[in-house]
Amino acid sequence: MAYYYDGPSHTFSEYLLVPGYSSSQCVPANVNLQTPVVKFQKGEEPALKMNIPLVSAIMQSVSDDNMAIALAIEGGISFIYGSQSIESEAAMVARVKNYKAGFVRSDSNIKPDQTLQDILELKEKNGHSTIAVTEDGSPNGKLLGVVTGRDYRVSRMELDTKVCEFMTPFSKLIYATQGVTLKEANDIIWDHKLNSLPVVDDKQNLLYFVFRKDYSSHKENPNELLDASKRYVVGAGINTRDYEQRVPALVEAGADVLCIDSSEGFSEWQKRTIDFIREKYGDTVKVGAGNVVDREGFLYLAKAGADFVKIGIGGGSICITRETKGIGRGQATAVIEVAKARDEYYQQTGIYVPICSDGGIVYDYHITLALAMGADFVMLGRYFSRFDESPTNKVNINGSYMKEYWGEGSNRARNWQRYDLGGAGKLSFEEGVDSYVPYAGSLKDNVTLTLNKVKSTMCNCGALTIPELQEKAKLTLVSSTSIVEGGAHDVLLKDQSVNSVK
Ligand code: IMP
Repeated sequence: MAYYYDGPSHTFSEYLLVPGYSSSQCVPANVNLQTPVVKFQKGEEPALKMNIPLVSAIMQSVSDDNMAIALAIEGGISFIYGSQSIESEAAMVARVKNYKAGFVRSDSNIKPDQTLQDILELKEKNGHSTIAVTEDGSPNGKLLGVVTGRDYRVSRMELDTKVCEFMTPFSKLIYATQGVTLKEANDIIWDHKLNSLPVVDDKQNLLYFVFRKDYSSHKENPNELLDASKRYVVGAGINTRDYEQRVPALVEAGADVLCIDSSEGFSEWQKRTIDFIREKYGDTVKVGAGNVVDREGFLYLAKAGADFVKIGIGGGSICITRETKGIGRGQATAVIEVAKARDEYYQQTGIYVPICSDGGIVYDYHITLALAMGADFVMLGRYFSRFDESPTNKVNINGSYMKEYWGEGSNRARNWQRYDLGGAGKLSFEEGVDSYVPYAGSLKDNVTLTLNKVKSTMCNCGALTIPELQEKAKLTLVSSTSIVEGGAHDVLLKDQSVNSVK
């Protein structure tokens, strides 16, 4: 006879935290959000920790190198999407690892025989006022000069004036050479009252710009997540098909942690993938596995040697797996059960396997709930897709700015490796949708605000760290009528009343 779980499975919105005692020391400024990413033995330190409990989803519409840099600056990790060729995924990882904070690859470049009109168009398109003039117009071409707003006056010049006639030529530029440190570059900027400083190699090819404003913001990121060589930490998605080729390429490119990206992780394919990694690299390559939603699934992956286990089936905002296949589980119930299994496994073996709640975060407080229920960190797709740093287009729909956001199981992404069991080698039916989400601005502003809320709630629960929250949290299920009570109710909101008076 089939097995029946006791009671229904629940979502985050069906739970609330009940405050506990908070001392006068329990203030957001004292909260530490550090969390383990990979498994560790009792009494030892994990080989990889994050400074904030957030990772970005392994999705085309969320995690590229740009997102990875922005999130590492805030203290979290992006998992670069695996539904692209091995070469291009490895190149994204390498770009993150080679990125030097404060050294910026030139985005706006032009050739010397182009015109003032071209400069104005480039400025309009990219919004940058510093434009490099390189021999071939490429970001790393031979630097012939620089154009800034001080080099031209539109009212006094013909639009077809050639760039080489008004640029500041290389002979008059102050520049630095390869190997300069950020501190030295910044000193040159200050000594010469510059806004930007080009850095060139010994053949005069442009490498980077250092901007005055970037140096100061670099100093304002106390949570930056860096490896031992002071490079940003980055993760990468892999699948259970081409791992023999993909894993070595990603390791070579410098990925700090891998994660098997699959809609359903309680499978022999995941064990085979982990076995390959352990045989080839021992414990030096870190790999998470998933997704699972119950105790059995967790124990299978923990015993298979996963460094962390990801939880969640069917809860993602773009996910239609539950509707299509009838599998899944309420995310809160899944996290609670897996966290219990993780704690028991720790008691028995002395090995702590971090768990990640993946998908279904709608409100910021859902993050706090997931952590309180035992998650060590949370993976988000929709949340990050709304920001400037996500790889998708920003579009204007009926007067509102939106960003595109599509599922890995949608026809658009066609990530069949994530869904295919047994090797059909194609996406046989869709498990995700293609959508828009409201544009929300910069990652930094949003993550700061979100984490301020998380810290504030933690203080209400009397907790200054995530483990303390997990120990002290008191959670209550709420009835559907008390959910109504939780929003504004029985009042006429001013916006609405103004409209109705009109
Ligand atoms: P969100 O944060 O609620 O948008 O959920 C993101 C998560 O949904 C991802 O991390 C994946 O686990 C999952 N996901 C991504 N694409 C699809 C899809 O096409 N179908 C089902 N789940 C998906």
